[in-house]
Amino acid sequence: MFILGIETTCDETGVALIEAKDEEIKILKNELASQIKIHQKYGGVVPILAAREHQKNLPILLKNIEKDFDLQKIDYLAFSVGPGLLPALVSGKEFVQDLAKKLNKKIIPVNHLEAHFYSVTIKNNIGRWQKIKKIMFPALVLIVSGGHTNLYLFKNWRDKKLLGMSLDDAAGEVLDKCARALNLPYPGGPEIEKIAKNAKNYFSLPKPMLQRGYFFSFSGLKTAFVDLVAEIKKFRKLDEGVKSDLAASLQKTIFEILTFKLKKAKENFRVKSIVISGGVSANQTLKKIIKKSFPREKIYFPQRSLATDNGVNIALGGFFLLSLNEKTLEAEELNIFSR
Ligand code: KG4
Ligand code: ZN
Repeated sequence: MFILGIETTCDETGVALIEAKDEEIKILKNELASQIKIHQKYGGVVPILAAREHQKNLPILLKNIEKDFDLQKIDYLAFSVGPGLLPALVSGKEFVQDLAKKLNKKIIPVNHLEAHFYSVTIKNNIGRWQKIKKIMFPALVLIVSGGHTNLYLFKNWRDKKLLGMSLDDAAGEVLDKCARALNLPYPGGPEIEKIAKNAKNYFSLPKPMLQRGYFFSFSGLKTAFVDLVAEIKKFRKLDEGVKSDLAASLQKTIFEILTFKLKKAKENFRVKSIVISGGVSANQTLKKIIKKSFPREKIYFPQRSLATDNGVNIALGGFFLLSLNEKTLEAEELNIFSR
């Protein structure tokens, strides 16, 4: 069957086409229009601009797919219904509803976070059949993105429990905001990762909320970091060396908090594997820390290009949901939700 996946929850417009059968999939097209350049000027995502860009980009991306594929052959449209930015989701929703009516197809509503779960099961290979990876359950699943830091216990794909989440800023959001304090462009996560490689010294930063179950809180760390930068600036220039040290210290502190909570969960639940996904999981230092902290466990990370938002994840999510017998919708039944 053919599934078209559409992603518009934030600042990436993604449209992808997959073919799927039993336990195999083939990515036929993975079209992505990044809006980074537009939002960089403002230091973060401006929802109304994101909405306008989705409106502009969606038909262009679909045309690229239509060039080589008869859209009538599509079986389902998978659409990421949230959580995300409301204006951005409205653009996507209108586009998908129109397309569903035009093609007379049903829509699979895909939760954006679920799409991140499934992304670890495939590789971003275009035009080749691949087996969907089987995850060893029970698993601890950590989604670390710009909007979420959620820790789950999965017995299987259907039976999952949210153990904890961030009570304030998400891990990616803190990287983005702290990067701004270092005059680095948006999105901050990859910029921080880049300059952290040259670090020579580490600053000590607070690790808040380490005691409260599986909940996270990063806003205190963010404030401490911004204050530290301001303090340093009083005495010296923020040169490349000190910026690298600050970036590495921030990254390390956030990743140690994530690891601490995972370890705690690992002690309390008998799990066979750990899944880390979402935009921040593209970070190679995070990958190293996790692998080192859990040498005996099976660890799943998404391929770097599938860690951040894209249409393939949504199409794949649609396929998983169909396999789980989830409901499909008529165009007018479609609803979206923000964070
Ligand atoms: O999943 P995603 O693309 O969008 C949301 O669902 O939020 O995640 C975006 C977040 C941003 O905060 C971005 O800075 C972060 O992921 N990110 C990274 C890296 N690449 C993206 N953080 C750390 N290291 C990276 N390499
Ligand atoms: Zn995401």
